[in-house]
Amino acid sequence: MTDVRIAPSILSANFAALGAEVNAVLDAGADWIHFDVMDNHYVPNLTVGPMVCKSLRDSGVKGFLDVHLMITPVDALAQSFIEAGADLISFHPTATGNIEETIAMIKSSGTKVGLALNPDEDVSLIEPYISSLDLVLMMSVFPGFGGQKFIPEVLDNVKLVRSMIDASGNDIKLEIDGGINQDTIGQAYAAGADTFVAGSAIFNTSDYKETITQLRASLST
Ligand code: DX5
Ligand code: ZN
Repeated sequence: MTDVRIAPSILSANFAALGAEVNAVLDAGADWIHFDVMDNHYVPNLTVGPMVCKSLRDSGVKGFLDVHLMITPVDALAQSFIEAGADLISFHPTATGNIEETIAMIKSSGTKVGLALNPDEDVSLIEPYISSLDLVLMMSVFPGFGGQKFIPEVLDNVKLVRSMIDASGNDIKLEIDGGINQDTIGQAYAAGADTFVAGSAIFNTSDYKETITQLRASLST
């Protein structure tokens, strides 16, 4: 299995021991760390901000930090996350006033950028920007909470975005987020996803290495 990434979402981690949890999943074979940022406004839940991202970096966490902003407005906090050590920042197109400017602002610092699409949103929302992106984040649940059930209807959109990415000829990752576990990861991979967020499916188990190994093994079955 080449060029796929498993990205544990810290949303289901033990926040009282966040640094240890992040290092544990990295040691267990995680490729990226998915960092869910919610503002109790764009989505009905509240998580963590750039200070926590900076604390992880200051404590020596070296992994790739994949920041998923579920907040509005986007620009000021995106800038703070860049300064805090994010490697990639995704945002929802409906959360910002000028999508092109937000993309340009994030990229100008050398940080990678992604656009996120909700299960009921049309792929035409992201199509005009595809060639500027490093990642498309397809939500397979409605954003706000971990532990929700995978919505299989999003697989049609995953296939459409896969075609858009292939036609662009650019290196753009296709990430799927929500309800990913050993039963659903294979369908997402078959539809064209290459980067898999998993929160509860990893952090609610006791042996992260075994779970991540099983998720990778489930890609091809
Ligand atoms: C949902 C978040 C997801 C979520 C995934 O709003 O964007 O990243 O934490 O959690 P699971 O894998 O438990 O569905
Ligand atoms: Zn997420």
